[in-house]
Amino acid sequence: MTDWQLPLWQSLLPVGRSDQTGGYRRYSFTPGDMACRAWFRSQAEKRGLRVETDRDSNLWAWWDPVDGPGKGLEETGAIVTGSHIDSVPDGGPFDGPLGIVSAFVAIDLLAGAGRLPVRPVGVVAFTEEEGARFGVACLGSQLLTGTVTPDEARALTDADGVSLADAMTAAGLDPAAIGPDPELLSGIDAFIELHIEQGSALAGMGAAVGVAESIWPHGRWRIDFAGRADHAGTTKLADRHDPMLPYAATVLAARTVATELGALATFGKVAVEPGAANAISSAVHAWLDARAPDEETLKELVSQVSAVAKLSGTSHGVNVTSQRVSLSPIVEFDRDLRDRVVTALARRGIAAPVLSTGAGHDAGVLASGLPTSMLFVRNPSGTSHSPAEHAEPEDCEAGVVALAAVLEELACR
Ligand code: GLV
Ligand code: MN
Ligand code: MN
Repeated sequence: MTDWQLPLWQSLLPVGRSDQTGGYRRYSFTPGDMACRAWFRSQAEKRGLRVETDRDSNLWAWWDPVDGPGKGLEETGAIVTGSHIDSVPDGGPFDGPLGIVSAFVAIDLLAGAGRLPVRPVGVVAFTEEEGARFGVACLGSQLLTGTVTPDEARALTDADGVSLADAMTAAGLDPAAIGPDPELLSGIDAFIELHIEQGSALAGMGAAVGVAESIWPHGRWRIDFAGRADHAGTTKLADRHDPMLPYAATVLAARTVATELGALATFGKVAVEPGAANAISSAVHAWLDARAPDEETLKELVSQVSAVAKLSGTSHGVNVTSQRVSLSPIVEFDRDLRDRVVTALARRGIAAPVLSTGAGHDAGVLASGLPTSMLFVRNPSGTSHSPAEHAEPEDCEAGVVALAAVLEELACR
């Protein structure tokens, strides 16, 4: 971060960070997340922005046109930027927060240069983008747009069996109110999310900032392997119903099939019952994250991996069931908005290549209902979802300058 961004960035850095790993554990409605929300509120208030919490507990900070909301010269719908503040387990500092910090600093830049909005400019922090606590990615934006229903969401539970409804209540929020908000969305003309790149394409191209073209279709599937617990020292191999074996076969098959199809498959979360070193497990619960360049390939990938799980389960006397937890269709970002963003950046001497990504974002969810675009900031190693995630200060500055240019283009004239 450069001097003018540093205090803002530093004020957020310690929040929700694990002393053991240095990674972030900002899970929705836990103290780390609530502290981030308080940080958002105080930063917005410091800037004189109007803060609102929508029915889905997403946070909004509004920079209103000079004469107040609804009174702006040439005013039409709002231009919104922002991202999310929750994290994956032991996530890096940039995934999500960079978009929010950059939004506040971009507003500082514009206001400092005397550029005032002629239509509302919003900064949003979406809830549970990572799905790290309740399993469904982009939950806040999916509730807002209606792709996840309130009943489905309220029933989601975390690893301790706490439901979303109970977690919200405990945090002082109202789970009865959650659901789509077409009125809020209809007041927005465009959403621009700035995000650290979660790959190293920009580094390869020598560019500090890029613009998103599309997001690969992706989703999560839960596969349950139900076996039979028994003694590790006395049960003959032939007599076992060990769920770990079909699970292991499935993990290896996922890698092979993904390689063959040019796709991606990951088992990053697994729960073993009862979890004793000297017992055959009674059950293994595993989460498949699958992503592919197109929907047909994604379907093929999941179908082949599920078939191996079933087949291998049968040969080991293990019952296998699977269910889809979430599915995000392919996203092609609005071409007109993208061209406008690229042109606005080029006018300021910023050459921003256009690239697609396999990472999911709230911008992808909103893209189904309104023009959205994304700016990516170079990530030298491409590492993300890890405490090692990094972006150079100069590139973060370039991201802010780019975002300010886009906001100026869309909202300040
Ligand atoms: C979000 O970071 C995702 O792509 O899982
Ligand atoms: Mn992420
Ligand atoms: Mn993210």
